[in-house]
Formats: sequence, structure tokens, C-alpha cells
Amino acid sequence: MATLKLGVLGSGSGSNMQSIVDAIEKGELDAEIKIVLADVKDAYILERAAKHNIPHQWIDCSPWKTRLDTTGEETAIRLLKEAGCDTVVLAGFMRIVKPRLLEAFPMRVLNIHPALLPAFPGVHSWTQALDYGCKVAGVTVHFVDAGTDSGPIIVQKCVPVLEDDTPETLHARIQVQEHLAFPEALKLLSEGRLRVEGRRVHIS
Ligand code: GRF
Repeated sequence: MATLKLGVLGSGSGSNMQSIVDAIEKGELDAEIKIVLADVKDAYILERAAKHNIPHQWIDCSPWKTRLDTTGEETAIRLLKEAGCDTVVLAGFMRIVKPRLLEAFPMRVLNIHPALLPAFPGVHSWTQALDYGCKVAGVTVHFVDAGTDSGPIIVQKCVPVLEDDTPETLHARIQVQEHLAFPEALKLLSEGRLRVEGRRVHIS
């Protein structure tokens, strides 16, 4: 058991980061957020970090929209290391991380994806689930590997798809579970209860 030293990467509202902050503040999760990095200058996740006195910074990840370029990646690795992070949390980070970051934090990069993987990787997965006619949807927290939303699964939670759902109502229902799933996965990690064997994550 060791206090996790988290570095959070995000692009948007940061509600998942907030759920992690709340779990730490309630004493439910043994972790400390050392730094928050965002690739979007005015992302609300940076404001949330400021409110909690967490060091935070915008990192320039251009020119590609969905891929972390080499400069952005090197900056992120340097800042995360300088801040003393041992674990990286992708909390709504809308870019595909590259191998260098994964090598810098082997099996210590976690992502949250709003679908029951391996169904519906990529963007707007709740809309994909709705359009497909799924009766259940959900959320997955997983270790990140070199693929897209493809690493070993740590926690999944389901929600029903209701008759009158819109993409917005379904996403909102999924987000409630996201905010439980990420702290839960991090707690298991902090307690040393995860063992990865191939694709399977065994929980002791
Ligand atoms: C969440 O739905 C997450 O699953 C996805 O991006 C969204 C981020 O939301 N990867 P937030 O910024 O944490 O509020």
C-alpha cells in the first residue's frame, strides 16, 4: 500500500478528476494529485484544479487534434516526472497517448471510457450504443496500452438504456457511474490489489 502520486491529463470539464479529488478529500482514496495537465487552454478541468490548489498547466499538443505529438508528449512526461507522479490518469483526455509516455509509466496509465469495452471504442460511444440499439451501456476503466481503448480492464459498470433516452440523457447516466468507477479502480491500485496477466486484471 502506498499513496498514489497522480498526474491527471484532461481536455474538458474534469468531472472525473473531481470525483477523484472528492474521494481523496473524504479519505476514501489514498492518493494525491500532483499535477493536472490539459491540452485545451480554457478547459474547466484547469479551473477545478486551481480551486483545489493543485498545480496545473496547459500543454501545447498541436498540430494534430487527436494525437499527442512528440513535443506535447515530451512536455507531459517531463512535467509529470518533475511533479513526482507515479501514476497517470487520463480523465477525458481526448488524445491518443504515444508509446514514450507508456514506457515512462509502465502499467501505470489508466483511462476511463464511457462504454462497455470492447464495444464502442473511440468517440461518442454512448451515441454509438444508442444507435446500435443496446439495452445496456456503461463505463470501463482500463490500463492503457498502445491501442485505442484496448488495454486490460480494471472496472466496468453498467447502466440501462431507457426507451426515451437521448445521447445526452444516456451520457449523463453513464457519467454517474464514471464518477464511482475511477475512484474505485484507483483505490484497488493503491491497495496493491491488481495483478495483470495478459489481458486479465486479477483483483485480490
Ligand atoms: C467522460 O465521459 C469520459 O469517459 C470520456 O470523456 C468524458 C470526460 O468527462 N473519456 P470529464 O471531463 O471528466 O467531465
